[in-house]
Amino acid sequence: MNDKAPSGMTLISLTGSALLSQCIHVVARLGVADHLAESAKTCDELAKLTGCQPKPLSRIMRALVKFGLFMVEDGQKFSLGPLGARLQTEHPRSLRHFCMLNGAEYYQAYGALVHTANTGQSGLRHVYGTSLYEHMERNPETARVYDLAMDEISRDAAVDLASSYDYEGVQTVVDVGGGSGVVVRAILRAHPQLRGLCVDRQDVCERAVKTIAASRDAELLERLNFVAGDFFEELPRGDLYIVKNVLHNWNDASCVRILETVRRALDGGALLVVEHLVEDDEPSLDRLMNAVLQMAICEDETDARDEARMRAIMQEAGFTVPRMGQLGTGHYWFEGRPA
Ligand SMILES: C[S@@+](CC[C@H](N)C(=O)[O-])C[C@H]1O[C@@H](n2cnc3c(N)ncnc32)[C@H](O)[C@@H]1O
Repeated sequence: MNDKAPSGMTLISLTGSALLSQCIHVVARLGVADHLAESAKTCDELAKLTGCQPKPLSRIMRALVKFGLFMVEDGQKFSLGPLGARLQTEHPRSLRHFCMLNGAEYYQAYGALVHTANTGQSGLRHVYGTSLYEHMERNPETARVYDLAMDEISRDAAVDLASSYDYEGVQTVVDVGGGSGVVVRAILRAHPQLRGLCVDRQDVCERAVKTIAASRDAELLERLNFVAGDFFEELPRGDLYIVKNVLHNWNDASCVRILETVRRALDGGALLVVEHLVEDDEPSLDRLMNAVLQMAICEDETDARDEARMRAIMQEAGFTVPRMGQLGTGHYWFEGRPA
């Protein structure tokens, strides 16, 4: 036997990571971290507060102690570890809703990965019989969680983009498929002279306006309008069209159609596509797993892209790509100008 061969335990532990994902999902969904914000609590107390059973909750939380989500005090009480703190709803860097989404609809789609491997088709469509967006139209709670999850994972890139791109000469920024406007809000906060339009599906726009009106961003609504629309059909006029974390949901043909809609609306301004890419040489584990995720949950035939593929899509839609750059979050931005 080769002593250097990795132990079978490594494989057993890797295949068990599905259970870890579910443990995180459970505590995120139950709002355990919110209940621990003020003080450490026993599992009996937490179970009462969240309406679940103490024994399974204790098992789940003890497992998560090993990953830094919780700490045990006096052998009985749980308190928040550094990662667990980020499951608090109001934590400025919360990832609670992303963990909820990843453990629910996304997780079901991962469960259909054999279907994706056999057919090249979306696992999510196989499970739910619809696209994610159609599914959310019928499931408002999932849609609410999704909007918040997108805010959580886009916050840092939005702030980075607001401070690193040159907005000289721009008057109106159009956030295409902007969700609750996490990107355009960060840009408007940093650039008081700008106005913004956020285009998304109707229910997303309605939720966003309500949420923002009740938040610290309420005053931004004087400069920011939400426009219910379909980016395959028509977009309102503006000077800078931001298409961030949108194209990775669609196959190449659909991406070209989305960008052609931008091209038709553009009147002398620019397009900014912002996405993660699969790097050519040594993709990180995150990027490789994200490429699998895209196949599992996105439109059929969607695949991760490298720089050449992204440029080709933009060119096919009628853009030249004079400049590109990278944000601190690892996202790449590609500036498109009408060819
Ligand atoms: C992955 S999210 C990205 C949200 C935001 N741009 C960000 O970076 O966080 C994709 C967004 O595209 C929107 N979307 C999907 N299909 C659309 C369509 N046909 N027209 C307009 N928006 C659409 C979704 O509702 C969702 O908000």
